[in-house]
Amino acid sequence: MLKDVFIGLSQNQFLTAAAKKYGLKLGAQTVVAGTNIEETIASIRELNAQGISCTVDNLGEFVFEKEEALKAKNSILEVIESIHANGVDAHISLKPTQIGLDIDYDFCYENLKEIVDAASKYDMHINIDMEDYGHVQPSYDLIDELLKEYDNVGTVIQSYFYRAEDDIKERKDLRLRIVKGAYKEPAEYAYQTREEIDANFIALIEYHLLHGKFTSIATHDHHIINHVIQFVEENEIPLEKFEFQMLYGFRKDMQLDLANKGYNFCTYVPFGDDWYGYFMRRLAERPQNLNLVAKQVFNK
Ligand code: FDA
Repeated sequence: MLKDVFIGLSQNQFLTAAAKKYGLKLGAQTVVAGTNIEETIASIRELNAQGISCTVDNLGEFVFEKEEALKAKNSILEVIESIHANGVDAHISLKPTQIGLDIDYDFCYENLKEIVDAASKYDMHINIDMEDYGHVQPSYDLIDELLKEYDNVGTVIQSYFYRAEDDIKERKDLRLRIVKGAYKEPAEYAYQTREEIDANFIALIEYHLLHGKFTSIATHDHHIINHVIQFVEENEIPLEKFEFQMLYGFRKDMQLDLANKGYNFCTYVPFGDDWYGYFMRRLAERPQNLNLVAKQVFNK
């Protein structure tokens, strides 16, 4: 299947390295805000001006060298300072493997703690993106440890996992993002059909809207969004208890429309030279995203 081809390509280390070297290509510039923080702050300002807040991902994942993980941590610290210094409405999203989870748990914890601590001084939220199944429990462990001391850290529930129903009830995060799930996972751990994943996604969103503190509903699926709008109206859920999230460059009209209708809206803004894996996963999710690429390549 095309999906498997793109997921396979997303994990190809040779192509990842080549992509870093040659800059934003293949149409990735439509869905990646820039290669440096200055370009990214400009994109954030544009979105803020439209009433949209941002979560910023300094792209990177599956890092196996301590030096590279430390470099990623320092870059994220710079992004935090830059968001604060520029006074833009934005927070951080990061992946634990980017700052050393595959190298050593304690090393990763120290890196993450430094980031969460730096952000807490500006009352800035740190979202821990969820990766593939093998990283889920260690990521929750990292966050649970930090939640003993900080409240500006939260994570993601991936609805395709059978365990998601139990996880969502146990999480103590002040804000939680709920998604369908982006990685290829076996039937041993995860629902496989669109119907099952969507049904669980809706059940988890409804549960968290009723019982959680703040819910980020991250999807481009208008069926889910319309369902949520009806659910919050019927259950009189206040607007300040939830937001919609979408990725930078996707369904821009719908992003703006939801913000104009008064819903909290947050755009996930990825930037940096490590764009390749992120970009390939977007193609795996929806091969029609190739249309975005084609437009970018041919509309010169
Ligand atoms: P999906 O791709 O299932 O599409 C459903 C339907 O919506 C389509 O059939 C089509 O009708 C419509 N549609 C979707 N995209 C469209 C488009 N571009 N144009 C027109 N119609 C479209 N995953 C993960 O594992 N860990 C994480 O931490 C995160 N974080 C995250 C943050 C944010 C902000 C988002 C939006 C997503 C994530 N994800 C994620 C990815 C997520 O798990 C999922 O893989 C993608 O969002 C794709 O699923 P959707 O719910 O968007 O709809």
